[in-house]
Amino acid sequence: MPEDVKIAPSILAANFLQLGDELDSIANADYVHYDVMDGHFVPNLSFGLDMLRQIAAAAPIPVDAHLMISNPDDYAVRYAQAGADMVTFHIEATPHAHRVLSGIKDCGSQAGVVLCPSTPISSLDAIIEDVDMVLLMSVNPGYGGQSFIDGTYRKLRQLADLCDERGVQPLIEVDGGVAAHNVEEVCAAGANVIVAGSSVFGAPNHGAAVEQLRELGRRGLARRS
Ligand code: DX5
Ligand code: ZN
Repeated sequence: MPEDVKIAPSILAANFLQLGDELDSIANADYVHYDVMDGHFVPNLSFGLDMLRQIAAAAPIPVDAHLMISNPDDYAVRYAQAGADMVTFHIEATPHAHRVLSGIKDCGSQAGVVLCPSTPISSLDAIIEDVDMVLLMSVNPGYGGQSFIDGTYRKLRQLADLCDERGVQPLIEVDGGVAAHNVEEVCAAGANVIVAGSSVFGAPNHGAAVEQLRELGRRGLARRS
């Protein structure tokens, strides 16, 4: 059983004109979630390597880089070198997942894979022992502020079963549409790292929103046997 729920506010929902203050406002969180979009794997563009370097240097907490890009083989290592403490890439984007994971880990960062909502848990069969984190998307990636897809609960339970069967305990992160109304259920189903964009940066007090999500998430964690 994981010790605690970790909260990873997504700066995609932050005020970009005041990014330094926005980072300071989430100093009580566990990760800065950094969404990289390439306009190809997903129909949107966001941030790249140069901004990550500055954020990793300035952020009071570790950076969790989520690569929504078509060519993680070419870029994942560069995000690790640029200062991301955790680098995750989409399993749909490469046939060489073990190679990409090793490249990230060789840089001293942690490494994980991401599954889109329609990608089955069985796609982790050959790789579950090699990941530090599994990120289950609970929306189709590309935009913040979308609604949570309920099929994620079943996938979380399937993933928990797979981890038990193999005797491994990667971090299990959920991304998209998580807020106060559903975070307890998401954690009860198996998540222990919660990405929250609009539910943190859309709140009047970001730090308080982080605390509230963590508290509600802990209730879910406590419901697990
Ligand atoms: C979506 C991104 C998410 C997004 C989450 O493609 O990967 O990290 O910022 O935003 P919310 O929490 O608003 O759904
Ligand atoms: Zn993300």
